[in-house]
Amino acid sequence: MSTYLIPDQTPYNNHPTSNNIIMNENQTQTDDQEHNNLLANLPKDKAWRSEHVFHYKDFWLSSDVIKGLLSIHKHFNPQPTDIFLAAFMKCGTTWLKALMFATMNRKRYKFSDHPLLRNGPQSAFPFLDTHILLDNAIENFERLLAPRLFATHFAHGLLPTSMTSTCKFVYVCRDPKDALVSKWHFMSKLRSKELAPISFNEAYELFCNGVSEYGPFWDHVLGYWKASQESPDKILFLKYEDMERDPTMELKKLATFMGMPFTLEEENAGVVEDIVKLCSFENLSRLDVNKDGGGGQKFTEKVVVENHEFFRKGKVGDWKNYLTQEMKEQIDLITCDKLKDSGLTLGLTK
Ligand code: A3P
Repeated sequence: MSTYLIPDQTPYNNHPTSNNIIMNENQTQTDDQEHNNLLANLPKDKAWRSEHVFHYKDFWLSSDVIKGLLSIHKHFNPQPTDIFLAAFMKCGTTWLKALMFATMNRKRYKFSDHPLLRNGPQSAFPFLDTHILLDNAIENFERLLAPRLFATHFAHGLLPTSMTSTCKFVYVCRDPKDALVSKWHFMSKLRSKELAPISFNEAYELFCNGVSEYGPFWDHVLGYWKASQESPDKILFLKYEDMERDPTMELKKLATFMGMPFTLEEENAGVVEDIVKLCSFENLSRLDVNKDGGGGQKFTEKVVVENHEFFRKGKVGDWKNYLTQEMKEQIDLITCDKLKDSGLTLGLTK
């Protein structure tokens, strides 16, 4: 099992350890107490992976990530150069992780011998929501060189304003019907064997009611969409479907937004196409590290997810194999209703 950082990206030895950023035992106990007190007073409903999700500030979150969120608010030091990859679950985090890492480090590594090929995209940079709870996380984050990259599934409104007002965010969203199908597959695999499985019909009902980890889906998307309209220099809003249709164009947008636009020389040398190819589903999913038994990521002390679980079909429109016409129409109706007057459209393919 790999740790969450590609070692080459992490100059651990360059910075002296600062004692005030290591959480001591008393601090951990206080955080645990606050977390338990909070959970005891929150409304709860059925979760897809574990037993319950909790309703916290308009979103449904698992116990683990609520703890992570409290810790982010208390202990995380955002830096103005930080770039966050944000997405609702199963909307393209793995793809964007690879693209952002490869773009940022394109002068550092050869594409034929790239750390993504050995370690896979999950290791490229930390998933803040739960990695903040791992041992020495804050200390390790402080040691990363700027610009630091982090991933999160938290809704825009849940994050500290010190983060959302200063840092850049790349947000990727997807047709909610495909997100639902992808999430149901993923969570069914991670669901505790002690709990009864969730049928697709049940997942559909929960999803439509907004009850799914990090949901409601539509509020999540709208939060980032509105923020991107207000501050386009701070939030780049991407769609999985556009990336599939024209990855080269979307990658150029991404590089420019990250402050590292491709030069004409790089374009002529085929660097854009090299990154697209390196990060493609076909390339990444066939790597040993992303095959069954190839390795996994420690999300919390208890939850380890195998890398191969992040690769399923990688297609637009797989919902057609799972949703009835009635289900499709219902989700499209909710989407139109929720997004009306926002200027955003999602998933309106036949
Ligand atoms: P499917 O389940 O529809 O196949 P996330 O990375 O946010 O967890 O999202 C996972 C979804 O993205 C899965 O969708 C997965 O197959 C797909 N995916 C993973 N890597 C990808 C890549 N490099 N290119 C395109 N899709 C990718």
